[in-house]
Amino acid sequence: MDAIKTTERYIAQTYKRQPLTIVKGRGMFVWDSKGRKYLDFVAGVAVCSLGHCHPEVVKAITTQARKLIHISNLYHIQPQAELAALLVKIAPESISKFFFCNSGAEAVEAAFKLAIKHTKRRKIIAMQGSFHGRTIATVGATWKHSYREPFKALIPKAFDFVPFNNLEAVENAVGNQTAAVIVEPVQGEGGVNIPSDDYLPGLRKICDENGLLLICDEVQTGMGRTGKWFACEHWNVLPDEITMAKALGGGFPIGCMGAKKEIMESFSPGDHASTFGGNPLACSAAIATVKTMRKLKLPERAAKMGKYFLKSLNELAEKYRCIKEARGIGLLLGLEMNEKSTAETIVVKARERGFLINCTADKVLRFVPPLIVEQKHIDSLISELDCIIAEVKK
Ligand SMILES: Cc1ncc(COP(=O)(O)O)c(C=O)c1O
Repeated sequence: MDAIKTTERYIAQTYKRQPLTIVKGRGMFVWDSKGRKYLDFVAGVAVCSLGHCHPEVVKAITTQARKLIHISNLYHIQPQAELAALLVKIAPESISKFFFCNSGAEAVEAAFKLAIKHTKRRKIIAMQGSFHGRTIATVGATWKHSYREPFKALIPKAFDFVPFNNLEAVENAVGNQTAAVIVEPVQGEGGVNIPSDDYLPGLRKICDENGLLLICDEVQTGMGRTGKWFACEHWNVLPDEITMAKALGGGFPIGCMGAKKEIMESFSPGDHASTFGGNPLACSAAIATVKTMRKLKLPERAAKMGKYFLKSLNELAEKYRCIKEARGIGLLLGLEMNEKSTAETIVVKARERGFLINCTADKVLRFVPPLIVEQKHIDSLISELDCIIAEVKK
């Protein structure tokens, strides 16, 4: 069966897909249906942080699948309890209770519901350039107009947008109905935007002074990607609520919202639920992922390899005028081109030469490789990018 033709025929056209079908993955590499091998700097968009099909994750999934694949949250679930106990050890120290779900957007939805229930207020401040998901509430908190506009009839009027990295704008937006501020400590989909050092602590202060909850959306930045388990740690900021998903399950779908104990206790039975949330298979995959990440010290590794990678990207930026800027933190890196068409051409040419990279915010090449990436992988991507940019430069 031709997956491309069949996809076009039977699957909703909600994604702009590249013309290849990936059928196998191991570590840093994936293979397409024609047997071509690619070095993967996308990692399922910041998901496969241990690389593809890590043996410990495969073992955990297969072992658990033989025991119990699914059971309802009507009962206690051993791997779910174990995962929560493990997450307490790596989460910011303010966070000690968790709600499990299946995706990033669901984690953010849970964070919104909890914030509204806990504070009994109805407004949430979100940032320009933000991305929080595609469900109705999360797309409402997502900045890009074209994502929200067609669905505005459904979107709640709860969200007040302010410019990212502007504390004064947040202060001015706070009103007596404001329940929370939601922020990605580093904006991912928005183009790898890093705030100034006083921003996260400043948000914490505004929240404390006004009795608001600070929600850190760490769906993309969490699980070691930026060089710490969670990006808010770079600025020593303790959130009231935190969201995670993507890399948590090593490729298996799982999402999680963590909160301070006294805040999470505002939820009562029936306030929120998910049939599959925290199911045994997903939680077993996540336990193996977190344990292996700890063993391999992947956050530290992300910090080290990220520095090397960023230095190499900066060298490219100095060499070519079609590059506006290289930026990033840990292994969440971006190379902003001056033009969208240049960025798009580079993605295609890189793929043709066996490298998967992706473009976000129109013209930012984004690099979110598995955290097991080695210097030699980075070197080979950089030398290929060097050749490609020399060809396409304007
Ligand atoms: C910061 C952030 N929040 C939420 C989401 C939504 O996650 P999901 O696609 O798993 O619903 C994303 C996805 O890219 C994200 O980057």
